[in-house]
Amino acid sequence: METQLYQITDPERDAAVLEKAAGILRRGGLVVFPTETVYGLGGNATDENAAKAIYAAKGRPSDNPLIIHVADPTEAEPYAVTSDAYYRLARHFMPGPLTVILPKKDSIPLSVTGGLDTVAIRCPDHAVARALIKATGLPIAAPSANRSGRPSPTCAAHAAEDLTGRVDMILDGGDCEVGLESTIVKLEGDSGVLLRPGAVTPEDLRRVIPDLTIAPAVTAALGEGERVLSPGMKYRHYAPAAPLVLLEGEEARVRAFLIEKAAERGVGILCFDEEIPLMPTGAVLFPVGGKADLETQAHRLFAALREADAAPEVHQLYAHLPPMDGLGLALYNRAIRAAAHTIVHIT
Ligand code: TXA
Ligand code: MG
Repeated sequence: METQLYQITDPERDAAVLEKAAGILRRGGLVVFPTETVYGLGGNATDENAAKAIYAAKGRPSDNPLIIHVADPTEAEPYAVTSDAYYRLARHFMPGPLTVILPKKDSIPLSVTGGLDTVAIRCPDHAVARALIKATGLPIAAPSANRSGRPSPTCAAHAAEDLTGRVDMILDGGDCEVGLESTIVKLEGDSGVLLRPGAVTPEDLRRVIPDLTIAPAVTAALGEGERVLSPGMKYRHYAPAAPLVLLEGEEARVRAFLIEKAAERGVGILCFDEEIPLMPTGAVLFPVGGKADLETQAHRLFAALREADAAPEVHQLYAHLPPMDGLGLALYNRAIRAAAHTIVHIT
């Protein structure tokens, strides 16, 4: 399949490109588009064949359900059983990097939800994404636009790396602002469970859902045969080719350890920006941002992992273990998956 690539910044000025993309989606094709979190691989969420094509393009197991993207929170009505709690979340966080799991209606085929009787609803905060959804008049199913097992794409070049020849069109809208996938909350009446942490933090969510709980799989390794609330939790995501070890412990000691390791051949370090001048010459570094600047770390993490993958000399990676509060929890969650839960305490 030939993949058309278009740049798009202003949906009004680039209306012709947008209409072309919407036409592809209406005919059952696949379009990669930017959102504020990561790039999405979009298809018509009411079309079983489009869902099949999405799974095939990603090489993704078909029991891992897709998120339905709408242009406005009220547009979830034909597809999901909404509630007061849903609209409270929507008022605070939509459009934005939040996905809400609700009971599904029959308009969404089971092949889109991996056989589940629930559906994931998200309203992205990105002008191109929302204009595209509006132009199709359809709900758009969109997983992250990476091949299964690769980091989510935070720019069009990453998506093109993984999906050229496998989708009809890629819309290049520049870098994604957030850089980590949306927060996922499953609503059960007025209560909620956090299934995937993102830029909407547990602290944010508890202002609306005071008794929000956090699914154990967010921070812990899954035990043998354990059941998960979100099928995506059981797959090893975001895995760099070189094994990644996460370091925790007193800051000066961890830093000293990293400086020593950086001198070894084949070692790559995902370091803080302020550590760059401390590292030995010839060290292979993938800077992720300042230690206190979690926004930049979120923005850069997946790109840094892709860069590390593209560095053939690197066969061992080290990084700092992120904190578990605020946006840190989302970084922590992605990092422990990329590291297959390998955490070393430096004493
Ligand atoms: O930021 C995002 O959410 C991006 C952009 C493109 O919107 N999309 C994204 O989709 O990250 P994906 O498919 O890579 O991740 C969706 C996650 C999966 O882990 C899946 O298991 C979970 O959402 N999920 C989807 N529907 C679900 C459901 N009904 N119940 C529980 N988990 C669900
Ligand atoms: Mg994904």
